[in-house]
Amino acid sequence: MDLSAIVADIAAEMAEAPDRGTPADYIPALAGIDPRRFGIAIVEADGQCHLAGDAEDSFSIQSISKVFALTLALGAVGDQLWRRVGREPSGTAFNSIVQLETEQGIPRNPFINAGAIVVADVLLGGYEPREAIGEMLRFVRALAGEDDIVIDAAVAQAEMETGHRNQALAHYMRAFGNLHHPVERVLGVYFHFCALAMSCRQLALAGRYLMARGLHPGTGRSVVSPQRARRINALMMSCGHYDGSGEFAFRVGLPGKSGVGGGILAIVPGRASIAVWSPGLNARGNSQLGTLALERLVQRTGWSVF
Ligand code: DON
Repeated sequence: MDLSAIVADIAAEMAEAPDRGTPADYIPALAGIDPRRFGIAIVEADGQCHLAGDAEDSFSIQSISKVFALTLALGAVGDQLWRRVGREPSGTAFNSIVQLETEQGIPRNPFINAGAIVVADVLLGGYEPREAIGEMLRFVRALAGEDDIVIDAAVAQAEMETGHRNQALAHYMRAFGNLHHPVERVLGVYFHFCALAMSCRQLALAGRYLMARGLHPGTGRSVVSPQRARRINALMMSCGHYDGSGEFAFRVGLPGKSGVGGGILAIVPGRASIAVWSPGLNARGNSQLGTLALERLVQRTGWSVF
C-alpha cells in the first residue's frame, strides 16, 4: 500500500471539494483562517511518516487537547477521576449545559467542554495555573518529540474574553462542588490547553502512544498502560466528536477527537496515528473536509476497528 500516494491523492481531491464548511467565528484568530487550507499526516507504527497539503503548518488544536489533558489527569489521580466525570456520549453540543442540572454537576464525559473543565481542575491540583499549563506543554512536546510546539497566547486571551458559556459551565459545576478551584484559575488552564498550536505532523507524532498500546515509540517508555490506552481510544470513539460521534464512527470507524480549529486526531490501533486539518466546520463543529478525508482514507486502506 503506497500511503504517500494515497495522502497526495486525498489532498488533491480535498483541494477541489466544493463544500468546505465554515470556520469557527467566535474569535478573530480562528475566523480569519483561509477555508482552503487542508493538511494530512500519517505516522505508521514503524515510524514512517506520510504528509500532504499543509501538514507542516500550525493550527489551533482546540478540543483535541482534551485527549492529552485526560491522559495527564488519569496519570495524576487514576480512576478516581471517574467519580467526577462520566464516560457516556452526551448527544448534545460540545458546550451544552443542560445535562448538568439533572446529573449533579457531573459532566457526561471528559471530551465535552464541561468534562474538560473538570479535568483542568484536576490538573490544577495544588499548582499555579502557569505550572499546570507548563506541565501540559512539556507533555505534548515530549509526546511529539519536538520542542517547537507553543501555546498561542492571543488565542487563549480571546477565548477568555468570549468564553461566557464556559464560565457558566464552570460556575454551575462549582455550585455542585465538582470544581475545587476558583473558576477563573481553572478556565485559565482550560483555555491555554485549547490554544496549543501544532501542525498535523506534530499532532500525529503526539498521538503515537494511542496506537502503540500506551508506549512512546520514540523512547520505548510507557506513557500509559495498554488498558488505559485502550480506554482512551474507546472514549474517543464514543465521545470524540460530541453529538457527531455516532456519525463519525459510522463514516470513519476509528477513535477520533476533533477541535473547532478544524483538526482531527484519529488512531488506527497497532497501525497508525493520523492528523488532518481543514478549518471549515460542519453543523456539529467538526471539520467538514477533515472528516471526508478520513472517510476516503479508510476506504482506500481498509483501516477500521470494526
Ligand atoms: O471551549 C471552547 O468553546 C473552545 N475552546 C472550543 C473547544 C472545542 O474545540 C470544541 N469543539 N469542537
